[in-house]
Amino acid sequence: MEVFKDKLALSAYLSNKTKVGFVPTMGALHKGHVSLIKLSEQQCETTVCSIFVNPAQFNDKNDLLNYPRTTEKDLALLKEAGCNVVFIPEVDEIYPPHLPMQHYDFGAMEKVMEGEHRPGHFNGMANVVQRLFAIVQPHFAFFGEKDFQQLCVVKQLVKLLNLPITIVPGAIIREEDGLAMSSRNMLLTPTERAQASGIYETLTRIKTNSKGSNPHELLQYAHENFRNYPLITPEYIQFAYADNLENVKALDKSRAIILFIAVKLGKVRLIDNMLVYE
Ligand code: PAF
Repeated sequence: MEVFKDKLALSAYLSNKTKVGFVPTMGALHKGHVSLIKLSEQQCETTVCSIFVNPAQFNDKNDLLNYPRTTEKDLALLKEAGCNVVFIPEVDEIYPPHLPMQHYDFGAMEKVMEGEHRPGHFNGMANVVQRLFAIVQPHFAFFGEKDFQQLCVVKQLVKLLNLPITIVPGAIIREEDGLAMSSRNMLLTPTERAQASGIYETLTRIKTNSKGSNPHELLQYAHENFRNYPLITPEYIQFAYADNLENVKALDKSRAIILFIAVKLGKVRLIDNMLVYE
């Protein structure tokens, strides 16, 4: 496994590779990331993973400060997973002073849910993804469906910039009790961790009961269900159409609908989602 800190050296190394798969990450890697690496290995000749905690996408300073950093462990995990190349740049390498931040317009999609609750987050994320894409020049890039809205924004970015990159989604990987794998899970205290399964439990409960009820009743029911998990404070619970993330008012079952949840659990913010109508 080759490890690069320097973007020019990485670009030169990758320049003659024919089928490059790219998994951008912020480190603190888990089985969800490994599943993306494996997806890339199945369809690409060279798999590149980046580890970069992107300051531009954190709207909360403490969140950036507390974000878990486990580089040694990450490298061991990537080697074991068969990853070919790792890129671990310093902040200046990605954000040199002469390169101005871009402002992207993703339309209505960036104004709801994560966009509404984390101002500037998607623009910061898009800036780093564009820069990483320019360095790695992948043919395929892999993004997990846990961050479904991010996946939609990245697809939009590729369209907007007309990039020759295929964006491949990876299914959510869950712990045994249903908690979606996330780097932030390791920040939970044992008591918080015990209640964190309430997110998945609520998603499945709503999916099971979604047949005859209207969205308003179902969301009310979801909020009530969280009373069984007093450490969890829901931030938003919302149905949205999978194709454009438009809020679902009356269920149009001819379109795929996803239930999205964001919660605070102590100081940790977690998100999850589930397809309720295919
Ligand atoms: O999903 C993430 O870990 C990050 O948002 C990403 C895509 C690596 C960009 O910093």
